[in-house]
Amino acid sequence: MIHIETVAALRATVRDATARGLTVRFVPTMGALHDGHAALIRTARESGGFVLVSVFVNPTQFGPNEDFARYPRTPDADATLAAKSGADALWAPLAEELYPPGESTRLSVGALGAVWEGAFRPGHFDGVATVVAKLLAATSADVLYLGEKDFQQTVVVRRLVRDLLLATEVCIVPTVREPDGLAMSSRTRYLSAEDRRAAAAISRALRSAGELVARGERDAEVVRRHLHEIIGAEPRVRLQYAGIVNADTLDSVGILDAPSRALVAALVGDTHLIDNLLLVPPTP
Ligand code: PAJ
Repeated sequence: MIHIETVAALRATVRDATARGLTVRFVPTMGALHDGHAALIRTARESGGFVLVSVFVNPTQFGPNEDFARYPRTPDADATLAAKSGADALWAPLAEELYPPGESTRLSVGALGAVWEGAFRPGHFDGVATVVAKLLAATSADVLYLGEKDFQQTVVVRRLVRDLLLATEVCIVPTVREPDGLAMSSRTRYLSAEDRRAAAAISRALRSAGELVARGERDAEVVRRHLHEIIGAEPRVRLQYAGIVNADTLDSVGILDAPSRALVAALVGDTHLIDNLLLVPPTP
């Protein structure tokens, strides 16, 4: 696996891969890699091409009171897992190249970035969109791999790619979970043992909501209350939002007459965790 830092070296590597007839398959991350990230890299590997992974803790997507400074940084373990999962190159961008002195250009994703996760993390999705646009400009990726775990992020990035006419295909990879159902996340390493156990209530509630809908419940408000009840029964987990939404617009739905998405965020201790599930009503 090649290690890259500068944009010039990245472009030379991409030119070389392209000259060999390979498509560029890009997995952006913030490091602290786990099996969820590995699934993205493996999916990219299986589809062939040149697999490029980036590790960059992007400051512009963290709020002033968020965990940017203490976000886990594990470069050696990241390199090992990326190589083992099939990456051809690992790019660790230099902050001064992604955000050069005097930089002043930011993207705004508008209302799509102000709801749900965006309501709790103002500016977060503008930061994500800004860095993803920069990463795509630098890599000229043919295919971008994103995890379904960050559902709103997938909606925002697909919209970004469409709105800016970017020639990159977006591929969404299913959520990888721990044995008890907890969606894998770089942030679960902050949890105490008790909180870690309690955090399973989030995915348990989503699964139960999925079953409720599969059995024929069509009232989204009933499903939302069900999520509140199950998560509310776990005193260590504080629900921040539970929404039943249209998967393209993120608007709340009233009646579940088509597949929709349940979105949940909760605080466990002071760690913010998110998860989501596809809700499929039975065919009449
Ligand atoms: P990060 O949180 O490191 O996640 C990198 C990618 O891994 C994202 O696409 C995320 O959805 C995916 N991922 C994380 N946990 C997963 C899981 N349990 N199952 C499947 N996929 C999972 O998301 C970001 O970084 C950043 O916002 C980024 C896109 C890199 C921009 O800075």
